[in-house]
Amino acid sequence: MAYPYQIQSKEQYDTIYQKSIEDPEGFWAGVATHFQWRRPWERILDWNFEEPRIEWFKGAQLNITENCLDRHLEQLGDQPAIIWEPNDPEAPGHALSYRQLLDKVMQLCHVLQRNGVRKGDRVCIYMGMVPELAIATLACARIGAIHSIVFGGFSAHSIIDRLQDAQATFVITADGAYRGNKDIPLKSVMDEALEQCDFVRKVLVLRRTGITTTMTAGRDLYWEDEIEKVAADGNPFFPAELMDAEDPLFILYTSGSTGKPKGVVHTCGGYMVYAAYSFVNVFQYQPGEVYFCTADIGWITGHSYIVYGPLLAGATTLIFEGIPTWPDAGRFWDIVDKHKVNILYTAPTAIRSLMSFGTEPVEGHDLSSLRVLGSVGEPINEEAWQWFHEHIGKGRCPLVDTWWQTENGGILISNLAGVTPGIPTFATKPLPGIQPLLVDEKGEPALPVLQEDGKTIVSGNLCIRFPWPGMFRTTYGDHERFKQNYFATYPGLYFSGDGCYRDEEGNYRITGRVDDVLNVSGHRIGTAEVENAINSDPAVIESAIVGYPHDIKGQGIYAFVVCDPDHQPGDDARKAILHTVTHLIGAIAKPDKIQFVSGLPKTRSGKIMRRILRKIAEGALDSLGDTSTLLDPGVVEEIKKGKL
Ligand code: WT7
Repeated sequence: MAYPYQIQSKEQYDTIYQKSIEDPEGFWAGVATHFQWRRPWERILDWNFEEPRIEWFKGAQLNITENCLDRHLEQLGDQPAIIWEPNDPEAPGHALSYRQLLDKVMQLCHVLQRNGVRKGDRVCIYMGMVPELAIATLACARIGAIHSIVFGGFSAHSIIDRLQDAQATFVITADGAYRGNKDIPLKSVMDEALEQCDFVRKVLVLRRTGITTTMTAGRDLYWEDEIEKVAADGNPFFPAELMDAEDPLFILYTSGSTGKPKGVVHTCGGYMVYAAYSFVNVFQYQPGEVYFCTADIGWITGHSYIVYGPLLAGATTLIFEGIPTWPDAGRFWDIVDKHKVNILYTAPTAIRSLMSFGTEPVEGHDLSSLRVLGSVGEPINEEAWQWFHEHIGKGRCPLVDTWWQTENGGILISNLAGVTPGIPTFATKPLPGIQPLLVDEKGEPALPVLQEDGKTIVSGNLCIRFPWPGMFRTTYGDHERFKQNYFATYPGLYFSGDGCYRDEEGNYRITGRVDDVLNVSGHRIGTAEVENAINSDPAVIESAIVGYPHDIKGQGIYAFVVCDPDHQPGDDARKAILHTVTHLIGAIAKPDKIQFVSGLPKTRSGKIMRRILRKIAEGALDSLGDTSTLLDPGVVEEIKKGKL
């Protein structure tokens, strides 16, 4: 048996699931014993979803990096921990063994310490997909600083929001990042943000692209120069800081249905146990295998399933700097072939995008090393599922459809590769310890409904009724928001914001968000955030954002915009809006369609009727439902006529 907590068969899953529900504390305590704790816990779980308060393994002490690195040295010291594939396929990549990775992490710890970083400080990391990003993440964790990684595609404005909210005092970035045929000037974007964040004391800059950057004396330091100083001291060992199980490990910002992004807080002990447990079980990782997750470390998928989960399991994790379509649409297959990848975890949007190139880019690549495929980020449509399964997995690799969220820390609903059956478009069953509940609008358990095929399904809003170790503990600096956003809609339950149904066999199928959150290419985008950005344009009076089905992105962004009478709507206004959104949020939030309208459909109380706009954007012009409660029903006719 590869891991003592690895589920081996469908029967075992059933038994373990049952046990995990009957005795969650006993179950998780059993899993947790397979990690290295410096002090045992006093209590396994203390919780209350009303307050809300969730504490796992309280009283225990640990450092997650000892579990990711030190613990493996004896047996896996020379095994690759990280394989790095650079953006340029011709450029040499490299691997870091567990021993080398620990050395590099400890060196950086010394650098951080010499520059004043202490336990509990917030460190913002803004980098491309280079091994140093993982090293920086782990160095923070080892020193006990709380990392807040910001995806390299976010704008200066988004960085400001995140730096300010977390009051980060230290930044780790790079001069630039390579992504496909683009060089992203990370440091200059960061500099723009820092103009408004004078509480940041130091900025550590990795040289990656070699572009000229302005270095502010006394604040900015080059990574390489600082490492050299440590090396000159003979590279001393850096002991891992003792952390309480409930000390924060990181903050990761994510969008909600209102206002600014919220800082999701994960803690050291519970997150560790859950990331490792879910990694090993969902992917059925076997020692020695090469695992490749195509996400960016700037998102939760990268945190849990590029860095922490795989390293906790002593796996070999591949970090890819580039994009799936550069230099051509065969890049993923090239990487699989070159590094003999065994497990490939990617997103439906990437699959759909690659599908559009046909199977030609797949041909000529040996994909026989692949054993398991995975999907994450949005519901995977049948066509993409089949294509991935057939053309990439050659019909012989189990495909796991993994449902989870930034807030969850790890995968909650998924089949276990080769152990429990996969069903196209179904995430299938909850992991042990996870208790999903589908509720109706009132929060009552949803009732079975008879379908045309004679079978019944239960359909409702997806909630979880019992804590799991990997769940978030608060939203940074605003516990009330945590409560209101997630625990107030249905008292006593965690509400995910997703709609879902369950078949007679207990398989779950996620149907998508039921709140004002969009999922564009697997990225979560708050409609209010995009609207606020658009509305800040001087030509704009107001706007409404809705999602519509998009062949590649899953959901596209449709903007209905009302312009000031002094400004002519047209191409210039459209360009200005796109520019503003890119500037305030980032290119990922750019609307795909902008329709100028003279007014928005509103109720008499002034509330925008998004339901109607959604129908129009979807093209369902004849099924708008009741529009009689509108303040001005005429506006709907006009919008229908102008639909893009
Ligand atoms: C939202 C969470 C943590 C995963 C990366 C995105 C949607 C995610 C699936 C899936 C259907 C999915 C949900 C969820 N989602 N995975 N397998 N099937 N929907 O994390 O940005 O926190 O977004 O992504 O709508 O609520 P995120």
